[in-house]
This record gives sequence, C-alpha cells and structure tokens, in this order.
Amino acid sequence: MRTLIRNATCVLPDETRPASVLIEDSKILAIDPPETASADEVIDASGLHLIPGVIDDQVHFRDPGLTHKEDLHTGSLACAKGGVTTFLEMPNTNPTTTSVAALHDKLALAAGKSVVNYGFYVGATCENVAELQAAERTPGIKIFIGSSTGNMLVDEQEALERICAETTLPICAHCEDETTVRANRQRIEDGPGFQSYLDHSSVRDHAAARIATERAIGLAKKHGHRFHVLHVSTADEIALLADHGGLITAEVCPHHLFFNVDDYERLGSLVQMNPSVKTKTDNEALFAAFVVNRIQVIATDHAPHTLEEKNVAYPKSPSGLPAVENSLALMLDQVNKGHCTLERVVAAMCDAPARVWDMVSKGRIAEGYDADLTLIDMNLTQTIRNEDQLTKCGWSPWHGASLTGWPVRTIVMGQTVFADGKVRADLRGSEVQFDHSLGGYWD
Ligand code: DOR
Repeated sequence: MRTLIRNATCVLPDETRPASVLIEDSKILAIDPPETASADEVIDASGLHLIPGVIDDQVHFRDPGLTHKEDLHTGSLACAKGGVTTFLEMPNTNPTTTSVAALHDKLALAAGKSVVNYGFYVGATCENVAELQAAERTPGIKIFIGSSTGNMLVDEQEALERICAETTLPICAHCEDETTVRANRQRIEDGPGFQSYLDHSSVRDHAAARIATERAIGLAKKHGHRFHVLHVSTADEIALLADHGGLITAEVCPHHLFFNVDDYERLGSLVQMNPSVKTKTDNEALFAAFVVNRIQVIATDHAPHTLEEKNVAYPKSPSGLPAVENSLALMLDQVNKGHCTLERVVAAMCDAPARVWDMVSKGRIAEGYDADLTLIDMNLTQTIRNEDQLTKCGWSPWHGASLTGWPVRTIVMGQTVFADGKVRADLRGSEVQFDHSLGGYWD
C-alpha cells in the first residue's frame, strides 16, 4: 500500500519546506519522489504542515488494574486525536510493571488494545535489580525517587546506588525528595492543618524538587548512567541540568509550563499534580529552558483520575491530570503566539524523545523512517471541551481554552488513525523497537 502526501509544508530534520512524502506500508519510502511515482492513495495537504508523530514519553494509562480511570485503548484513542503516534507508559499500574513477566503481560495487552505505538518502562523497587537486568523490549527503568500515585517509592541511597551500578538500561526518575515532603506535610499538620489544594505546593515545594534532582544527577554522574529527569517543575532545577552532555536529559510538561499556584483558586484539585505546580516565575524559566534546549523533551505525564476522585478535599484528592489529546495543540498555540518556533516544538515532542530512548527509525521525517506522521493545521482554532475528550476520565484542566494550531490527521505506521475529527478505533499500532547500543541523546 502506497500513500502520497502532497503539498504539505514538511518539518524535515534540517529544514522546513514544501515537500511530498511517499509512504510504502509502514515506512517513509521517499521525500519528493519522482512525479511518475504511483500511489494507492493521494492526500492533498495544501495549507497544512506535516510533522513527525508526537512521541509522549510519560503517560499513565492505568491498565491493568485501574481501568475505571483509563485503559490502553481509550488512552491510545486520546493519543491519536492529539497527534501522538507513540506513547511510553509508566509502571505504577496494578500490578506494577516491576518484573519481566509483568512487562510482557502489558505488551500483550497493548497489542490488542492500542491504536498507536507503545512501549513500557520497567519499574524499580528496592529489591528487583535482577528483573531490571533481565528486562528487554523496554525504553528503560523508571524510579520514583519520591512517592506519587501507587506504592513505588525507592528512596534508600543503597538501593539507588545499586540500581545505577548494576543495570545498563537508561533510567528516568520522578524527582521529589521524600524527607522534605514528609517534613513539610508534618509542619502543616502540626500547625494550621490543611486548608486548601494550595497546600499541595507547600508540601511538594521547590526544595523537594531541587534536592531530589540534585541527588539524581549526582547518581547519574557517579555511575556514568544515562538519566532522564522527568517533569522538571522549578527554575532551580534548570541550573542543575547544564553541561552533562548527552548523559543527563530532562523533560517538562505542559502543566508546569502553563499552570501555577494562582490556578488552584479556579481549578482546585484539577491542577494537583506531583511534582506540584509552582509559580509564574517558574513557568517562564521552564519555557525559556525549553526554547534553548536546556530541557530537551516535552511530555505530558498524562495521569487521569475521575472527577469524583478529584473532587474530595485535600489531602485525600489524588494527584494527576489528563493531557495527551491537547499537548500538541497547546504547544502549536505557543508557536502561533510567537513564543517559540514550530521546529523547536517538533524537536522536543518528536525527535528528542526518540533519541533519548533509542527508538529505531522514529521521530523524524526521513527516508527509511517509520511512517508515524501528523498533519497539523496551524490556522485552525478550536476550544477544548470536557465533553469532547476521549480520555476515559472525561475532563481536561484546559476546558474552555481556545487554541490555534491543531492536529487534523494522525498516521501510525502508514495507517490513518485520526482524520476528519474521527479516530479509527479498529486499527492497532505496534510495539516500539529500542536499540540501546545507539548511544542516546546528543546536543
Ligand atoms: O501527579 C502525578 N500523578 N504524578 C505522577 O508522577 C504520577 C501520577 C499518577 O500516576 O497519578
């Protein structure tokens, strides 16, 4: 099967220009094929941009075990609508993905359910180094250096040292210092008690993020272990991330770019996340760090909970918000506002995650690469509405936001899974191939 996409403005690795892209089955066969090249289907993309499909390297799709919030099918449909062609999913499901057997179970589950491409991290515990050593078919190891949803905290120095010393897969970590978080919580409990969701940002404060990120960087450097700092939330951490070459990379999420403590009044627990949202100054510093590639990756940490779960008083309300179907549009809107370039968005949402996680043939529009592609309309204005969300939890913290710049067609391994406002729920994506001998991210 051959598909020709004509007349799109293509964001290619080295330039953005009008080009035609010929797809054969699941691969990009040619950029600007000869006029005589035949195709079974021709897509006229006049007025549209073609970018590599978004790779979201941090989602929680709750499957198995917590499927009243999301599952691998609904999460993947939300991806398709959002222009996301590949997701990497976190291990805090039930059961947790902390063994080779659990990893393989999840891969099998996804093969039957996901309409986009998928990969799963293997989660670290204090005792599972042998499983981490044996794991294959995975982007890498996830460590919760700081508790969050699920019971996966690895806080003991000895255990962290052992994981870094005795494993070879790249590591990513949730960095919030548990000692600081517990002390902050205790101080509020001993004092005024919890008054509102705003307290969440006092419990999980700047120091908690900074201390844990500093600790993670120290471990990575000591052991020469590739390390990806997930969801950086403070300006303080940015300075720590400088000058480690390709060894240490970092990621920022849309909610840490666009929400801050002032939003609790309007949105309450809908913006309760771990790490917590911080200040407007942090938003600005994080955005600036993304613009100059100090933070290489943008991912969502899509972490759905039902509104019923969210609507209980702090601190019983769970942390997490859904974002996969809106993250690309949120960033394209920034391009339209002149805050960053389209090329920078593509680098952070498509190319860098592929390089960080050693994905073979993904993240670029180039001959021989996988035909994971997203057509975007930079002039389309749409309003995010809870009732339109495909995520099973059925809400968005951006409800009511009007954005300009949206995905209009998503192609996964050569097959259109989203077009004309509709997702193809019957199609299936494929397991991502990783080659950890590739060497990872480079500047
Ligand atoms: O707020 C969060 N929720 N942060 C995480 O790291 C985990 C996530 C979840 O799984 O709910």
